[in-house]
Amino acid sequence: MTDTDVVHLRAGGTSLVLDVSGDRLPVVVHWGADLGEVGPSALSSLARAARPQRVSGGLDEPTRASLLPVESDGWQYEPGLSGSRAGGVDFSPRFTVLDRRNDERGMHVVAQDAKAGLTVTIEVALGVSGLLRQRLSLRNDHDTEYLVAALQATFPLPATARELLDTTGRHLKERSPQRQPFTVGEHVRASRRGRPGADATLLLFAGETGFGFRSGTVHGVHAAWSGNHRLSAVRTSTADAFVVAGELLAPGEGLLRAGETYTTPWLVGTWGEGLDEAAARIHDDLRARPTHPSSPRPVTLNTWEAVYFDHDLERLSALAAAAAEIGVERFVLDDGWFRHRRDDTAGLGDWFVDEGVWPDGLTPLIERVTALGLEFGLWVEPEMVNLDSDLARAHPEWILHPGERWPVSGRQQQVLDLAHPDAFAYLLERLDALLTENDIAYLKWDHNRDLLEAAHAASGRPAVHDTTTALYALLDELRRRHPGVEIESCASGGARVDLGILERTERIWVSDCIDPLERLDNQAYTNLLVPAEMMGQHVGAERSHSTGRTAPLAFQAAVALFGHFGIETDLTRLDEDARADLARWVALHKRHRALFHTGRSVHADPVDPSVDVRGVVADDGREAVFVLTQRTASTTLPVGRVVLPGLFSSTEYDVRILPPADLAGPGQSRLAWAAGGMPVGGAPAGGVPGDGSADGMTLTGRMLGVVGVEMPVLLPASAVVVELVARS
Ligand code: DGJ
Repeated sequence: MTDTDVVHLRAGGTSLVLDVSGDRLPVVVHWGADLGEVGPSALSSLARAARPQRVSGGLDEPTRASLLPVESDGWQYEPGLSGSRAGGVDFSPRFTVLDRRNDERGMHVVAQDAKAGLTVTIEVALGVSGLLRQRLSLRNDHDTEYLVAALQATFPLPATARELLDTTGRHLKERSPQRQPFTVGEHVRASRRGRPGADATLLLFAGETGFGFRSGTVHGVHAAWSGNHRLSAVRTSTADAFVVAGELLAPGEGLLRAGETYTTPWLVGTWGEGLDEAAARIHDDLRARPTHPSSPRPVTLNTWEAVYFDHDLERLSALAAAAAEIGVERFVLDDGWFRHRRDDTAGLGDWFVDEGVWPDGLTPLIERVTALGLEFGLWVEPEMVNLDSDLARAHPEWILHPGERWPVSGRQQQVLDLAHPDAFAYLLERLDALLTENDIAYLKWDHNRDLLEAAHAASGRPAVHDTTTALYALLDELRRRHPGVEIESCASGGARVDLGILERTERIWVSDCIDPLERLDNQAYTNLLVPAEMMGQHVGAERSHSTGRTAPLAFQAAVALFGHFGIETDLTRLDEDARADLARWVALHKRHRALFHTGRSVHADPVDPSVDVRGVVADDGREAVFVLTQRTASTTLPVGRVVLPGLFSSTEYDVRILPPADLAGPGQSRLAWAAGGMPVGGAPAGGVPGDGSADGMTLTGRMLGVVGVEMPVLLPASAVVVELVARS
């Protein structure tokens, strides 16, 4: 090995060291903490030191995972490429590097097996914050067809990765965490739903045993793709550990005719000392995009849980007026405005304003909304169709199905074949017309069913890949034509959350469940991928429509506070006091949203499971806001101390509980800091109230992160908001 046989990519506190010796595909020697300026001979020694040992019973040339590990390297585990020609021929290519180029932040490799007729291109890039992206392409150079079963990126893990974390879930409860030891074998998370799915894990993490939000080296991998995908963590009997990630191709979907190329989506890897740091790498990367939403995120009123399908100009105008009064800035008309859509059994596909409900179109409502100073947003679900619709009756051939039968329906609906040129053109024309003819600033783009038997009707061939790329093309074209319009990705709540869709949308709807107790985990684990400003977080009715649980407004608002804040309840039914309360929360959110939407998300690792502590700390450490939540009754009372992590160690912070979240509960005793001591809370029923002052204390970031403060005494299912401002 010579000094030029090693490439060292560095960015954002991350090093990626690649052994590029010989004519074989590069091998990752290290992915993780920055190794600093290292001379070529030390790098070359590192690559040598990391070469695996030859062992009894093993191969004579021990191997490690390359960027595309295959059998011809001696690789006996999950391969980077699975595929063959008719009869299984060329199932085991041996790639030779033809061209390799790199700079400090990226590498581009072209390799070929001329006999097998395959050329592979691998792109590796480190983003500003050290986020690692990989993308692979495979070209079929022969005249006969080559069938790609899988083309996946490989992310090698350090030996310390001993525990796995991913999330599962369902409609109304997305992103439930699950952990397990990372033992020899394979842990696979696959989506076959035609969208990532409510159960999809956004990232598959592997880290040191017991890693948490704040500590433990952890690596996570994500597929930036809105269709079927697969993430798999593998530990081998040869001490290799890695995650492979790629699109999950249906049988035949990866068929390459002569000269054709299949390209994977971007597969993305992050790492950190704790999950918060790993998440920050993703957030910083997204925030560095020129297209990242940077204007203040408008406080939103969504009509769904307020009126459902009961669309009526006067009722909705009153709702908009009530919203404007409390400081709402965007009014979104949800499902129910288009032809035949009186409930969820009919109408999808008929994207014309319903003449019965809206005899003068949407203009009268839009004019009233905009006259109040609010933006107007509209719900659509373009990829879907009800069989009971004019569209389905006219064009059954535009609907995905394998032939003689319809796939099992979901929410009484089927799915359009966006890759059908006429279906695509119809949707583009309809959406373009709606946006051109109406003053619409925002689309809530929904997608309410998993795909099944998704086949192009004419050929019977699988269509998820094609419809996913067609969806991207449709969004891209609409955004080109209407650059000012923002789009939300909603899929029965959070069933389509990925960096592919986030490239084309300004926010995601986290979940249809807005019960704050459920939202706590959901938002914390969604936030591992999605920065707060892109997460729709709403205050709903006092009694949650999805859980039946009652949650006071203050609790709901505190839990929603950091996100893209909104309201989803019929404000006209709230009394004046409740509306005034809500207005105070809207004002609080607006006062701090610049911090929430640019700062670093921090989550304290729970000591007492009844308590949740999370916050946002400004990049320069000058200010922070934390929400301290009492989820359930604690086993001890008082709970004891909680730490506020992520602050700047030597900075002194003035700490105070912020109104309107400073009321202890129904007794309404005011929470405050006890003079000269730890903060005390008003006890729920006739306990000791604070001294009534809003004055707090001054503590250093290190004290707050190491010693902590006493958790205020709160009723179960309530929260306080704490502000920290650096002393100059
Ligand atoms: C599912 C979404 O998640 C809801 O917010 C709402 O838009 C309904 N669809 C409308 O059908």
